[in-house]
Amino acid sequence: MTHLNTKVLRFESLPSTNTELSRLASEGAEEGVSVVADEQTAGRGRLQRAWSSPKGAGLYFSILLRPKIATNYWPLITMMAAVAVYDALGDACRLQADIKWPNDLLSGERKICGILAEAIETPSGRAVIVGIGINLTGDAYPAELAEVATSVSEATGRPADREVLLTSLLRWLSHWYSLLNEGGGPESIVSGWSSRSSYAFGRLVQVSNGDEVWQGTTCGLERDGALRLRTSNDEIKLIRAGDVYRVR
Ligand code: BTN
Repeated sequence: MTHLNTKVLRFESLPSTNTELSRLASEGAEEGVSVVADEQTAGRGRLQRAWSSPKGAGLYFSILLRPKIATNYWPLITMMAAVAVYDALGDACRLQADIKWPNDLLSGERKICGILAEAIETPSGRAVIVGIGINLTGDAYPAELAEVATSVSEATGRPADREVLLTSLLRWLSHWYSLLNEGGGPESIVSGWSSRSSYAFGRLVQVSNGDEVWQGTTCGLERDGALRLRTSNDEIKLIRAGDVYRVR
């Protein structure tokens, strides 16, 4: 199996590692090129939200991928990244996290990592920038998110070593990306994700896409990563976009 040839470019400060890598991709950067910044001044999250990125408080990382899989499976790329972060947190920080569909990493139901994947057109074809933000200390997130966010140091009671975590993350990204592209394919990601997420099966959740809200019990993933939700009238609803909230 071919492994990702990763090359890490480091910056003290950037507006956003995703934006910088997108610029490099448009200039022809190769698959595996990655960007890390000590701080981001305009970090971006999903749904046009800001991602707080103070200096030294988080791992702010983006990697360029040029996947070979059919585009209908591209949603699995962020799920692949979530599985890689899960394994890296386990190995490098001895932290057992959880994954909330599709790609939020949680510790004790609080968000510890977010992933923002952006598909872009480049001179050598379509590519994806996968941006990963991991909270390393409690300074990473704003005070108003204290109820719903946490960090590696708070969750483990130990300081988090950014470099050790980054090395492990690169290794696991390479492992899972190779599996997705040419190993077990989509099934390997669906099963890797499902075995690491308490949200995969039997979880009563609400899903909101901004306009509509559904409630139901999770019952696994489709082959393309869509979440299967069994509603109260026993129908299966396939969720392809939206925010998932657990129902207490
Ligand atoms: C989310 O909303 O959960 C996704 C957050 C993604 C944040 C990371 S930090 C590194 C990369 N650069 C960005 O501007 N965003 C992503």
